[in-house]
Amino acid sequence: MKPLVQVKNLKKIYPVATGTMTAVADISFELFPGETLGLVGESGCGKSTTGRCLLRLEDPTAGEIHFDGVDLIHCNKEELHHFRRHAQIIFQDPYASLNPRMNALEIISEPLHIHKIARGAAAQKIVSELLDLVGLSQTSLRRYPHEFSGGQRQRIGIARALALNPRFIVCDEPISALDVSVQAQIVNLLKLLQKEKGLTYLFIAHDLAMVKYISDRVAVMYLGHIVELATADDLYKNPLHPYTQALLAAIPIPDPKVERNRSSLVLNTELTPQVKQTSGCPFAGRCPKAQAICREKNPSLVQISPQHYTACHFA
Ligand SMILES: Nc1ncnc2c1ncn2[C@@H]1O[C@H](COP(=O)(O)OP(=O)(O)OP(=O)(O)O)[C@@H](O)[C@H]1O
Ligand code: SF4
Ligand SMILES: [Mg+2]
Repeated sequence: MKPLVQVKNLKKIYPVATGTMTAVADISFELFPGETLGLVGESGCGKSTTGRCLLRLEDPTAGEIHFDGVDLIHCNKEELHHFRRHAQIIFQDPYASLNPRMNALEIISEPLHIHKIARGAAAQKIVSELLDLVGLSQTSLRRYPHEFSGGQRQRIGIARALALNPRFIVCDEPISALDVSVQAQIVNLLKLLQKEKGLTYLFIAHDLAMVKYISDRVAVMYLGHIVELATADDLYKNPLHPYTQALLAAIPIPDPKVERNRSSLVLNTELTPQVKQTSGCPFAGRCPKAQAICREKNPSLVQISPQHYTACHFA
């Protein structure tokens, strides 16, 4: 199968007061049509930057991005405009991302206006269908963001993302800000929509527990690098990178017997600037298995089995 999205050696460096900040170091991966790739890692590791670069909301410093064969870095304005119809984003905090002065009809129909798809009654008909699709009542049309619950607001964000019938959606922590009781409903809705519309998702989350249920494959990010990439099943059953192992060890297991017997590898240090490595493996400062070579040479992402890649000298 041909990939829908291809990312090669993507790099994003921000200028900051103290010099530069490498948000994304050098990452490569592919997304296949209809799949969900989970992107996991601690706060600040570069997940949102990656998602924003993929949508060309941010200009990458270096690297290549192809969408359905089109070179998104070197394409012309027209091609970029066309791409924008097919790629959308759902944000973590629907309250911050929805304009408080616009009602649901105005919010969801805005992309239809921008892309000159529909106006007036025709737009309202499309919005009505979208409300049905995301499980909101028709009385929502004239209501404003503050009149909805968190879960309902996220449904509006999803409806807006779907308005242009996209093929690819970056879901940037779409459930992290929601009550636990509502999280599963939104994940189920996203899964259902994916099946119905053949959508491809990049699903960003902090922790592995959250992406397990929705992802076909998972990429684990650490300080701007992808350190492990595998099918969700394989990653949970057979994590190869010490960082992935530590993330998994941090997920509580309901069975106390299993909980007592499992490996006690836990991240013992906070992610502080001091533990950031300038050369060698980016994880060396916190890795319980680090050896001398780890501080000298940065391990590259290598294929261990057909669908499993990791970046560790000792995997
Ligand atoms: N516009 C910017 N200017 C300077 N630095 C930035 C900018 N945007 C992001 N960064 C920095 O780049 C790094 C990666 O940020 P990013 O938002 O991609 O992380 P993240 O993994 O999405 O984190 P979180 O889980 O908190 O959302 C962080 O150190 C952040 O401070
Ligand atoms: S390369 Fe070394 S420091 Fe990096 S994860 Fe592997 S063992 Fe740990
Ligand atoms: Mg983020």
